[in-house]
Amino acid sequence: MQKFLALSQMNVIEIQKLIDLTLRIKNQELTENDQKMIGQVNGKYVTTIFLEPSTRTKLSFEVAAQNLSMRLLNLDAQTSSFSKGETLQDTIDTLEALGCSAVVIRSSEEFYYEKITTDLAIINGGDGANEHPSQALLDLVTIYEQFGEFAGLNVLIVGDIKHSRVASTNIKVMKRLEMNVQVYAPHTMKVPELEVEYLESMDDLSKFDVVMLLRNQLERHNEKLLDEQTFLKEHGMTSTRLNTLKASAIVMHPGPFNRGVELDEQILKDSRVKIFEQVTNGVHARTAIFMQTLGELKWKRY
Ligand code: CP
Repeated sequence: MQKFLALSQMNVIEIQKLIDLTLRIKNQELTENDQKMIGQVNGKYVTTIFLEPSTRTKLSFEVAAQNLSMRLLNLDAQTSSFSKGETLQDTIDTLEALGCSAVVIRSSEEFYYEKITTDLAIINGGDGANEHPSQALLDLVTIYEQFGEFAGLNVLIVGDIKHSRVASTNIKVMKRLEMNVQVYAPHTMKVPELEVEYLESMDDLSKFDVVMLLRNQLERHNEKLLDEQTFLKEHGMTSTRLNTLKASAIVMHPGPFNRGVELDEQILKDSRVKIFEQVTNGVHARTAIFMQTLGELKWKRY
């Protein structure tokens, strides 16, 4: 059994292997070894425990599990014994006793998994503002699909850097993959200690290959935010800003997005905007994650 906890703790060869597997799944080019791994996963029980809201991550793990003929146990945090105070550790021990092999967990607590002892495959669906490894994987897949390489790409990450586990994971991993990462954020959403260069204005985006927008995480803010129109005008992806991007560039957003705040809905029609392609890639990336964590045939290490 393996665990999938933090993409930034994986080496670049392991990350590239996961990207390649994801694209083989998407393009229906599975090898004999991939088919054997699918055979090992088939029929295993998996549960999702989402202690924070989710649509994309939860459902795409569930679609991936069903596509792999895994058996999905439904655990709703609100109606389960969590509401009676049962701990995460006791819940996981209970799932193991029930015969479960894997559990996908999202929690508001950073590094929650360090407190858990188990032989189950733990897959991190997001821990506070720390990591969102399956999202970062699908983001990398979307970029690699477009450009066929990472080194030298110019990436701009825009918005709520302070509260975003998507930004936190991507910045660490993208730098290791030799992408040039810059960030742009309103004053209240900056992180001073971040080891990346802040862009002063996002009015000229012509040098960037990838612009990744972030959701304003209203539930994590204490300070007053700009009103929606002002945010869009000063910090959002408008049609005017989109027009400064080159033809080969792509615009991403992990979702859910706030129309008229982080982006003008007019831009959704532009073929450079890959937001729904990211969702599709999320199913394939999460299929690859199940195969890697549960398949008994492991990849050869270099
Ligand atoms: N991108 C993402 O994590 O979306 P959900 O919160 O809907 O899972």
